Amino acid sequence: MSRATAEAPANIAFIKYWGAREGSRALPLNRSISMTLESCRSTTTVEVLGDGRRHEILYADGDGPFGAAAGRFAERIRGHLAELLGWTGEAGLGLRVATRNSFPAGAGLASSASGFAALTVATLAALGHRPLERISPGELSSLARRSGSGSAARSVIGGFVEWPAEGDESKGEGNGGGDGGDGNDGGGTDDPRAAQVAPAGHWELADVIAVVEEGPKRVSSLEGHRRATTSPHYARRLELLPERLAAVRRAIRERDLARLGPVLEAEAIELHLIAMSSRPPIFYWQPATLAVLAAVRELRAPGLGLDAWATMDAGANVHVICPFGQASEVAARLLRTAGVRRVLRDRVGTGPRMHGDPEGGGADA
Ligand code: DP6
Repeated sequence: MSRATAEAPANIAFIKYWGAREGSRALPLNRSISMTLESCRSTTTVEVLGDGRRHEILYADGDGPFGAAAGRFAERIRGHLAELLGWTGEAGLGLRVATRNSFPAGAGLASSASGFAALTVATLAALGHRPLERISPGELSSLARRSGSGSAARSVIGGFVEWPAEGDESKGEGNGGGDGGDGNDGGGTDDPRAAQVAPAGHWELADVIAVVEEGPKRVSSLEGHRRATTSPHYARRLELLPERLAAVRRAIRERDLARLGPVLEAEAIELHLIAMSSRPPIFYWQPATLAVLAAVRELRAPGLGLDAWATMDAGANVHVICPFGQASEVAARLLRTAGVRRVLRDRVGTGPRMHGDPEGGGADA
């Protein structure tokens, strides 16, 4: 096949990846666990132009027109294509890439996770490798993060996903559910590969995203990973993580949001505590971020009694995790919170798929 289109989703981390030994290779200093989303997606078409041709890279925001991608963004895509073409042994090949997101890029919604996951799947498909059928999820996860966007390693797998740290021994203990691939998946060492903890159908969780800021974040995650270890709180977080990881795995296994929720919130606050106390410090929050956090606590108060819990990535926006059945009410109430520009409704999803494939083809089964 010389042309292929793939879609891949963003993901929201329950346990955050924050701190990398080598940011450019996305070698994480800690394990993370995430939920793959469904609607926040990147769609990427890759066409083989031929030997010796220059890559052409096009980008469109939302439904807007395609234009040539420039600067750091185009450079990262070129770097990623070089990695993928090195892996397939076709280094001289020129490709035409056209990519768009279904959600605002660079707003703490993990557009690089979905973007690099979609780019990986579409490129390998265009080169004839049938990535969702013939490449194991673990291998795909390893290939997806090579641009330096570590969270892309989790976006190629559907459902609930765990990604080890560099040097970790295979899978975390108590890691229930399907493993999503061959026996090597989840093996840590020097090439940490993500693996599925449970498929999407296991737990009907929604992610209602309160968007309070739409521009690109001021400090990249890459820079945040680099500075993380300068925070005096970083080492303490590492000490707390094994217990938290175990709690999240158990909460997923038992579909226990009352157990998951407090861990989600503690993780998000600590990620930002570390960012704010790094040297130099990084402030991602906006005043509206605090307003949404207060609103989420009110959603849980007796009277309303909704099962809604907040988490944030490296940005000002707040992801509110709740059961499918409560998402409409949570969304309506968040929309009425001061500073919320819009609300995106998403849910647990099944992972990447090829376009035109009626079976979906995600790595969720
Ligand atoms: C805070 O290096 O994957 O979202 O390339 O910007 O998507 P991007 O970031 P990446 O780090 C993600 C950090 C995080 C937490 C997480 O997703 O685990």
